[in-house]
Amino acid sequence: LGQLVRRNLLSPADKKYVHSLFLEITGQDERQSWDSDLIVRQEAERFLKYFSESPSPLQAYTQTFRILNKTFLCLNTFQFTIEAPFIARKIEAGQFIIVRPHSMSERIPLSVCGWDRSAGTLQIIVSAVGKTSTEINRMQKGDTFKDIVGPLGERSHLPNAVGTCVVIGGGYGTGAIIPTARDLKARGNKVIGIVGARDKESLIMTDELKGVCDEVLITTVDDSCGRKGMVTDALKELLSREKIIHVLAVGPVPMMRAVSEMTRPLKVETFVSLNAIMVDGTGMCGACRVSVGNETKFACFHGPDFDGHLVDFDNLMKRQKMFVKEEKIALETLNNIKHEDSDEHEHPIEQSATTPVATPGNAVEST
Ligand code: FES
Repeated sequence: LGQLVRRNLLSPADKKYVHSLFLEITGQDERQSWDSDLIVRQEAERFLKYFSESPSPLQAYTQTFRILNKTFLCLNTFQFTIEAPFIARKIEAGQFIIVRPHSMSERIPLSVCGWDRSAGTLQIIVSAVGKTSTEINRMQKGDTFKDIVGPLGERSHLPNAVGTCVVIGGGYGTGAIIPTARDLKARGNKVIGIVGARDKESLIMTDELKGVCDEVLITTVDDSCGRKGMVTDALKELLSREKIIHVLAVGPVPMMRAVSEMTRPLKVETFVSLNAIMVDGTGMCGACRVSVGNETKFACFHGPDFDGHLVDFDNLMKRQKMFVKEEKIALETLNNIKHEDSDEHEHPIEQSATTPVATPGNAVEST
């Protein structure tokens, strides 16, 4: 259709009809003209190409979501490379996906730490802290996900001015900050990364982060690597050292809250990636509602990144705990099944005491 419009092969009446169809499908404003609707036209042309090059239309839309690679990062945490060409073509820094490993599983949101548009692949990090993330980590190279939806949410906010920006990753939130760090650097900013973990063995993706930052500060609670302490200790030092114009923090809620409280008096623009419980991921169910600036927002649709100075973290933490009991039972049931099946190939499973909630930025459990 895009090509027909571009080549003026439609009658004025057909053109008007097709235009109204596109507006309806894409939910766009009536005031937009065909000429400004470049994206829609390009999409139509792309799909026409897929149809014409594929033996069957169904095959043109079929994605297998096959695991091409699986790499151990640290205890119970793996990096997966997955075939997902349509998502890889469109995803931007800060957006996330929702996955189902099999047809009976729940849907969990996961952040994407990298992608290759030409190869049509995504990289995700999954840390096994609940039933579904444990099931994912039991999958092997060659296995396929039942389905993956994305890209979801808004891309990360990028400051208008150019200056020194800080990206902070706590635990496996480190993977989620890499695409945004790359974008900030590409815009001419000086980018400083801070990553924190409880010990050296729990640090992940530090080399990848160094590849997109001017400087990376590492903190460990037990002083086994980098400087001793928390990410906020390193941030405090940076704030006194130079003028920071923008901070992004992704990780556990207490960490994001502490970062926001530290930058608030200095009025440093600070964004956090909110790990609300999610179900559909499209703004339809309301499960992920969060309070930001005394307004209700949907983390999946308006976020996941929000102004950390406006977020009601108490409300977020309260909602995250809503299904702790059910999640514990689900994980125990899964582990009991595992123990009964002695032939099953397994990885060690950590009975994590962390809050088991859904999180773009922290691959953990949903409902
Ligand atoms: Fe349903 Fe956000 S997950 S509205």
